[in-house]
Amino acid sequence: MIKKPKIFLTRELPPESMRILSEASELTFNQEDRVLSKQEIIRGVRDADGLLCLLTDSIDEEILEAAPNLKVVANFAVGFNNIDVAAATRRRIPVTNTPGVLTDSTADMAWALLMDAARRLSEGDRLVRTRQWTGWGPLQLLGADITGATLGIIGLGRIGQALARRARGFEMRVCYWNRTRLSEQEERELGVQYCSMDTLLGESDFLSLHVALNDETHHLIGASELGRMKPNAILINTARGPILDEAALVEALKTGVIAAAGLDVYEREPILERELYDLENVVLAPHLGSATIGTRTKMGNMAVENCLLACQGQRPINLVNGEVYE
Ligand code: DGY
Repeated sequence: MIKKPKIFLTRELPPESMRILSEASELTFNQEDRVLSKQEIIRGVRDADGLLCLLTDSIDEEILEAAPNLKVVANFAVGFNNIDVAAATRRRIPVTNTPGVLTDSTADMAWALLMDAARRLSEGDRLVRTRQWTGWGPLQLLGADITGATLGIIGLGRIGQALARRARGFEMRVCYWNRTRLSEQEERELGVQYCSMDTLLGESDFLSLHVALNDETHHLIGASELGRMKPNAILINTARGPILDEAALVEALKTGVIAAAGLDVYEREPILERELYDLENVVLAPHLGSATIGTRTKMGNMAVENCLLACQGQRPINLVNGEVYE
């Protein structure tokens, strides 16, 4: 009989993924609904062949060091900034992620935040729930027009492109900035126009962030960038918190440098910059980008497949450090 790999999972996944994983492996997993401490992860990976982890787990050199048999770190997320990929690569440990399957749900979330912030829906909800609504008023909670406005997208990968497609139905002008420019045909098909960062900041009514977090994109949007935006602009972040300088955003929202923001991610989750909690002109979601039953199931199954393949000595499908197989 073939020996099943030992897999350590840091938090329970959707039922279908749990079933596949428990049938195919000798599984140990965190049965509590909380993030494990570093020491708990170290204890868990000691004799594991595979580590299946989440974006809330910081997987560093010390953890990898503690796991001499480790054959893979499979992340249940498309972003992998929580993993020291260089350290894993040095140990020839493949790292995998879950691209593609969460594109639409994350673009939907960006769109939901954009609409909420523009039409002041959450503010209105609070007004009604706190029994403060006294009736319809011609000047009450006036928001911003979405149809025909200019949408700026920073980072035109899968999710950025999915957002651009959504904007079409609202007849928006869509400008983008990306490290590499799309071909003319791709731009035509998507209905987007390439802009410099300056133009994007200066002309967008809505600006949505869709770059990966790395050393280059840390605080990509700070006080100076916010200061170049229009006073009516609305900023959306569903990518990673540290791409945006949260303290600078608070200042910009308080002083009217920009009009509003819709956030799904934060610099130090689950803690937010203190004043954000009290600002009316920001919509705050608790990192729900990929949180649909269908998407989380697909992410789980993908992470499980990557993990099992690597444990069986095969090349996983969604590798982020292909160098380990060279
Ligand atoms: C990801 O996969 O990186 C998302 O942030 C999860 O919601």
